[in-house]
Amino acid sequence: MTSRISFALGVAALAGLSQLAYAQTNITSSHCISSSEYLSCNRDVADKWGSCVDDCNGNGNCIVDCGCTAHQKYINCMAESCWNQVYSCEYQLFVQQYFAVCPSATEPIPFWPAPDNAPNRCSCDLGKVLQNTLSARNAQVNCVTHVTDQTINNIPTNLGDLGNIGDITKSATECACCGASASISSAWDVCPDTVPRLAGADLWPVFFPSDWPNLYNSVPDFVWGTCDNNFSPNDCKKYGFNNTSDKFYKPGDFPNNGTKTLSNLPGTVTAPPSGTVLTWSQSSTTYTVTATGYDQKAVASQSEYRATATSTDAFATQTSTNGAVGVKPVGVLAFLGVVAAAMVM
Ligand SMILES: *[C@@H]1O[C@H](CO)[C@@H](O)[C@H](O)[C@H]1NC(C)=O
Ligand SMILES: *[C@@H]1O[C@H](CO)[C@@H](O)[C@H](O)[C@H]1NC(C)=O
Ligand SMILES: *[C@@H]1O[C@H](CO)[C@@H](O)[C@H](O)[C@H]1NC(C)=O
Ligand SMILES: *[C@@H]1O[C@H](CO)[C@@H](O)[C@H](O)[C@H]1NC(C)=O
Repeated sequence: MTSRISFALGVAALAGLSQLAYAQTNITSSHCISSSEYLSCNRDVADKWGSCVDDCNGNGNCIVDCGCTAHQKYINCMAESCWNQVYSCEYQLFVQQYFAVCPSATEPIPFWPAPDNAPNRCSCDLGKVLQNTLSARNAQVNCVTHVTDQTINNIPTNLGDLGNIGDITKSATECACCGASASISSAWDVCPDTVPRLAGADLWPVFFPSDWPNLYNSVPDFVWGTCDNNFSPNDCKKYGFNNTSDKFYKPGDFPNNGTKTLSNLPGTVTAPPSGTVLTWSQSSTTYTVTATGYDQKAVASQSEYRATATSTDAFATQTSTNGAVGVKPVGVLAFLGVVAAAMVM
């Protein structure tokens, strides 16, 4: 029991999400194409998640791995028996949660983001907002790497000329302002009518929490609110934030907040969007999932349509190689370490 409690706290701290413990998707099972299978699939995942965590004996990486696998298996439950709800806000929020708790999560994810004009899609394209956040994170890491590489290649032979460290910090801060701005702005840009918080305006601190040095962030103690003075949106393109769909508002310069809450638009998904068989991979695990119930809703005992998810039944080990825990300290600190080493020599 202790491990479960510390698990909940640990993930909450890691992800900035507070009510996660063994959360499933918030889909109402009776809306699923095959509710009883969906319920038993979820129950099975929750049980295995629990024992996976218990077997970790408190080891943090192990516990994070359990969460990754559990989320993947919940996605499989959706693909099997609730594929008619995959464009809903609830599923798109679940994928958001998956990226938040699982450092090794990578695109592509099934049914995400919802295609434009998908039936029963969420009123705000949450997937696009999150994609912008993820790509802004990559661009920021590249930006800082570029800044430090350039400087490292130009380390002056005369140590008295090392006075440009201020410039490095300034450039790295500009990288961070561009990254935060691209992410935060996309909530207003993609979903102008939606309350920004609901549209994903608060995702950035989840992916670059400023109080977790060397975990996600590339500039220690970065404060978004100070970016009014620190960056020029036009320079962001120069720094590699060259996705033309990116908007870069400054902290004091946002459009008015939208006021609508999230809701699912009309329409019905009448056949499994992935075809009857879905194959997808995360880390080294490949899943093959067969959709059920696509012929007629709620017809019991259609054994020929019974869902099966193959892959090892066990919860796989997925030690992360990118994202949160795996992010190398590419930031200013890493560079200063190099300079310090040079000075000692
Ligand atoms: C499910 O709903 C709860 C309660 O509203 C919320 O705290 C949680 O974040 C939701 N989970 C997802 C994945 O949307
Ligand atoms: C630009 O961003 C959009 C939305 O996030 C994404 O679909 C597209 O692939 C990106 N383009 C490039 C060149 O990265
Ligand atoms: C607009 O939304 C943002 C993000 O949630 C929030 O920080 C800000 O206070 C809101 N502004 C107003 C005027 O409500
Ligand atoms: C965008 O920036 C990346 C990284 O700096 C670069 O590899 C890519 O070629 C650029 N794309 C465009 C369209 O400029």
